[in-house]
Amino acid sequence: MSVLNRLNEDFPDNFLWGASTSAFQVEGASAEDGKGLSVADIRSMDSEFLDTSVSVDHYHHVEEDVALMKELGLKSYRFSISWTRIFPNGNDQQPNAKGLAFYHRLITLLKKSGIEPIVTIFHFDLPQALVEQYNGWADRRCVDDYVRYAKFLFDEFGNVVNYWLTINEHSLLVNVPSMIGLKDDDPKKLRELAEHANYHMFLAQAKVFNLCHELLPAAMIGPAVSYMTNLSYDHKSSDALLGKSLEDMVSFITMDVAVRGEFPTYYTRKLVEDGISLPIQPEDEKDFETGRADFLGLNWYCTSIFRHNKQASSKMLAGVVDQIERYEDPALQHTEWGFSFDPLGMRYALQRVHDRFPHLPLMITECGWSEKEQLEDGRIHDSTRVRFLNDHIYQIREAIRDGVNVISFNPWSFIDLLSVNDGIDKRYGLVYVDRDNFSEKELKRYKKDSFYFYQSVIQHNGRNIEKERTGN
Ligand code: BG6
Repeated sequence: MSVLNRLNEDFPDNFLWGASTSAFQVEGASAEDGKGLSVADIRSMDSEFLDTSVSVDHYHHVEEDVALMKELGLKSYRFSISWTRIFPNGNDQQPNAKGLAFYHRLITLLKKSGIEPIVTIFHFDLPQALVEQYNGWADRRCVDDYVRYAKFLFDEFGNVVNYWLTINEHSLLVNVPSMIGLKDDDPKKLRELAEHANYHMFLAQAKVFNLCHELLPAAMIGPAVSYMTNLSYDHKSSDALLGKSLEDMVSFITMDVAVRGEFPTYYTRKLVEDGISLPIQPEDEKDFETGRADFLGLNWYCTSIFRHNKQASSKMLAGVVDQIERYEDPALQHTEWGFSFDPLGMRYALQRVHDRFPHLPLMITECGWSEKEQLEDGRIHDSTRVRFLNDHIYQIREAIRDGVNVISFNPWSFIDLLSVNDGIDKRYGLVYVDRDNFSEKELKRYKKDSFYFYQSVIQHNGRNIEKERTGN
């Protein structure tokens, strides 16, 4: 055998060119056809423009939307199943037939169009009834209810779905506990509840990895991890350590537990110092021993440059994040919401994850550019997004040449959707939807310039990507 590694020159022929969405952000119909309310629906009720009852009405436009995906040439489509469309209260005896029928329709349409479904089991939309019954993920009963729901999906769709994602951005849910319905006026108590939820999500995930391997041996399953490249502004070892801590506590923790089946010392030390104990039961060990991810899904958007500031405050719970403030490098372009345009940062991130877990394939489950946009004679000239796609795809190919095993690219998002905090006017889509934060209009779909660009990238399997269009 040669001592030299084979050099990968291009995207492999079976590369899963795709796009991404999540249920509550596109579907609408939040209380239709028997669907129960989720924490995301409840959260939207307090906001003027985060209304999940319509979103971009994918629920009623599913044929049209999949036809657009087919025209785009997608090889994969990452979407989530809404737990409360299947089990309105999270743990009902019987599934909701109409909700189930919707996902059968969607998946059948995808398969007929030659598009591989990549299914997220849980993306920010915990059944509100489970919060009311027992405080959701903070309680161990949520583990059983999630596992039962996942098993139901495996039984129902396992013959056609080959790729599964367990939990979207687990660490974000722990750091912003209101996203899983947790509240407490006492910050210490809230932190404890969030850490219990953290543990239960890890346990549920390990059980579901095992279940998937047992029931669907040909399928692959992994987490969708929030991962940002963090660079320190100052050249100090103390800041480098802070950056490492940030990366560990926000991103690597999720990967380490999912891949190695044990809780890393950088995390357990912090728990001990903060006087928090996890609700571990002796029987859990066997689930962690065997329940491992087959790949890692990375939600990567940008590079963030941070500075140490003990006074800085943040909405995040995990202590380390409170000590930093973000710095916008004037050399990088930023979205209106502060996310940088830094394709090299993505390549660096891919290399770092590959160095840590060289045996695992990586999926890019999210990556996108947001902008306010307006129709001009029925067209959207989203030239920055075109450049964003070109330059990031260029760097993904460079990462593949570096030896990183990237198997999919699923940019956020296939279609304009409801952003988690900023509504529909913060647009990420390849397809424009003619509605805004305050008016639904007719929800008509328009293909943006980025749609045509990406279509041609897929047709050429990435060979037409130009050397970066932006200097770096
Ligand atoms: C990711 C989430 O964190 O970022 C998506 O998985 C979300 O659901 C995306 O939409 C972009 O964030 P935002 O706040 O602009 O919606």
